[in-house]
Amino acid sequence: MISQSKIILQIIVIASVALSIFLYYQLSIRGFLDDWCSCKCEMDSEANLWLSERYNRSARVLMNSKNGAVDLETFNWWTSLQGASTVANFTDLVEDLFSLFPDKDHYSDSSSSRCRRCAVVGNSGNLLGSRYGALIDSNDFVIRMNEGPTAGFERDVGSMTTHRLIYPESAMDMDNNTHLVLLPFKILDLQWLISVFTTKHIDQTYMYVKPSIKADKNKVLIVHPAFIKYVYESWLQRQGKYPSTGFISIVFALHICDEVNVFGFGATSDNAWHHYFEDFVIGVNGGPHAGDFERSVITELHQKQIIMMFKGW
Ligand code: C5P
Repeated sequence: MISQSKIILQIIVIASVALSIFLYYQLSIRGFLDDWCSCKCEMDSEANLWLSERYNRSARVLMNSKNGAVDLETFNWWTSLQGASTVANFTDLVEDLFSLFPDKDHYSDSSSSRCRRCAVVGNSGNLLGSRYGALIDSNDFVIRMNEGPTAGFERDVGSMTTHRLIYPESAMDMDNNTHLVLLPFKILDLQWLISVFTTKHIDQTYMYVKPSIKADKNKVLIVHPAFIKYVYESWLQRQGKYPSTGFISIVFALHICDEVNVFGFGATSDNAWHHYFEDFVIGVNGGPHAGDFERSVITELHQKQIIMMFKGW
């Protein structure tokens, strides 16, 4: 009888020790995760409020034939950005676009169990010497923009590109694993996209543009004009004339990803503003964009742990 209760006592002691070890490891892992927040991390209430004042869950991100209509106010704002160089029936244009390109409700698979990790890679010279390549490529999506190349820069910028945001004046060839994501700033940009994959006759907007580029037609995505207006109004409080490609790319990622890691934004550590693939220094505020305001919002996003910003070199 006595030996049986001794055995029970021993079991209780062993179970308690095992439970303590289990809890200890759980708590240390949680401490680690707090520093290295991965998908679906808890935000504090201040960050939550700040985000809810800007983020619109039901914003139309990418166009399709069903959501393509724009109200007059949006249409007038959008066509004022770079001038309505061509008169076109917008409804017919949307129909033409989606008889050619994928007509889906893209990325509508958001759920509490989805953990899509995305890298948004800007074109800043602070990537040079950073050795971020492997870290960037470890994401599910790697979103690049404009002419930012990978060839020759793999160690610092990675080699994978799942999405590339471009407009006619910044277009470049891409491989068959990459989604061409058109950022349309005018009606002619949509007409150019059709022309690239059909007649190849448009080679002029306000400057010479490539009449043809290599890209997979079946992977083409088109940012909704209403999304550009939403980014401008909700995120930038109408600062500048319209948002930069880099800023739109970050908000785009916030809408289609669950974790957003940002690389290649801002100056180098010695305060130089240039592209990692070019030597000359570029302007900080960049023409029609509210550079300082955009940077302050990106900094807030990082400080509130909504994105993770990798500052580079
Ligand atoms: O110059 P470009 O528009 O091609 O760069 C893409 C984006 O990368 C910019 O919109 C900007 O947000 C970001 N960038 C930056 N600092 C630089 C160069 C680019 O933040 N020095």
